[in-house]
Amino acid sequence: MSPIALQRSHSIATIGADGIGPEVIDAAVQVLKKLAQLDGSFELAFENYDWSSETYKKTGKYIPDGGLEKLKKHDAILFGAVGAPDVPDHISLWGLRLAICQPFQQFANVRPTKIFRGTESPLRKAQPGDLDWVIVRENSEGEYAGQGGRSHRGLPWETATEVSIYTRHCVERLMRFAFETAQKRPRKFITVVTKSNAQRNGMVMWDEIAVEVAKEFPDVKWDKMLVDAMTCRMVLDPKSLDTIVATNLQADILSDLAAALAGSIGIAPTSNLDPTRQNPSMFEPIHGSAFDITGKGVANPVATFWTASEMLIWLGEDDAAKKMMDAVEAVTERGVRTKDLGGNATTKEVTNAVCEELKTMFGAATAKKV
Ligand SMILES: NC(=O)c1ccc[n+]([C@@H]2O[C@H](COP(=O)([O-])OP(=O)(O)OC[C@H]3O[C@@H](n4cnc5c(N)ncnc54)[C@H](O)[C@@H]3O)[C@@H](O)[C@H]2O)c1
Repeated sequence: MSPIALQRSHSIATIGADGIGPEVIDAAVQVLKKLAQLDGSFELAFENYDWSSETYKKTGKYIPDGGLEKLKKHDAILFGAVGAPDVPDHISLWGLRLAICQPFQQFANVRPTKIFRGTESPLRKAQPGDLDWVIVRENSEGEYAGQGGRSHRGLPWETATEVSIYTRHCVERLMRFAFETAQKRPRKFITVVTKSNAQRNGMVMWDEIAVEVAKEFPDVKWDKMLVDAMTCRMVLDPKSLDTIVATNLQADILSDLAAALAGSIGIAPTSNLDPTRQNPSMFEPIHGSAFDITGKGVANPVATFWTASEMLIWLGEDDAAKKMMDAVEAVTERGVRTKDLGGNATTKEVTNAVCEELKTMFGAATAKKV
């Protein structure tokens, strides 16, 4: 068999969508193509889907009929951000992002955070290594289950309900996934976050399920926090945390705080995983479409690079994923940073610098072998 026949191939759907989404996805595709070319042991086939608020405004739909079936044939989805100033946010979010996450049962949302070398945390004493967390967010139900309604619209007695749904099935599978995540990390330590003092039903069930699942992982140490106290611990004692698990809404908020504490929302990645692998998983930066900087060429692409690296790990390309992160961190350390990280580089300059760094790294590796 020729070496070419042995090459691994991964089919990636890209959906840049809105605002800076297409800008950071283009940057990530450029780096991924360079990485695959330099590595030579795998190839990536990209197919772009032009689904956005623009298509919604033209056609009334974010995802055309049959769109999800097309998406399902890919190995992974690389997603930018959805949201436009002239479309209500709940329409855009439910029309595109949640319309993929929910039917594809991407129930585990994984959000690592760390301080990159060469960047600064707004926390005075936190250095690279002091804040190194993975937040695992329930991604299929909870506060974002979409249950509820509105009646008596516009009248003084108008009523709206937003019902949080917690099912044993979904909490157990997520809790187990979170403990497995903690088990794979060196510290083997997880903090379970709830609000079981005020929310005495669903959150108490979360706590009980944590106790049950913890018994399956005797090598994982764990503790628990109420979500309000957790915000203080994240700021005052970041070293005391490692893996964190929380509900859909709580972890959504905590992970934005985590990104800011690590230096910028512009560096933080997300994986929306279907751990059963029956559906493709979706990888996206945490940030949104950032209307204020769209089209200016200054969006930080690092969150999407880290996202792409997480995607490579999911696809089994661990070595390439590590090289990508090493290259990104070498670039931040050299001071090639966008404005949100205190620098003045453009998206393009950071992207080109990462590609150059990869070339140097692969060159050095080849020279060593020779
Ligand atoms: N997953 C998603 O698609 C997603 C997530 C969050 C928000 N949104 C949507 O995005 C829109 C804007 O939301 P928002 O303003 O609350 O959040 P946002 O993340 O878009 O922006 C918040 C702030 O962070 C800055 N920022 C974000 N990403 C950056 C990057 N890569 N580099 C440099 N700076 C960056 C922005 O300039 C802005 O000042 C809304 O429509 C919202 O619904 C979408």
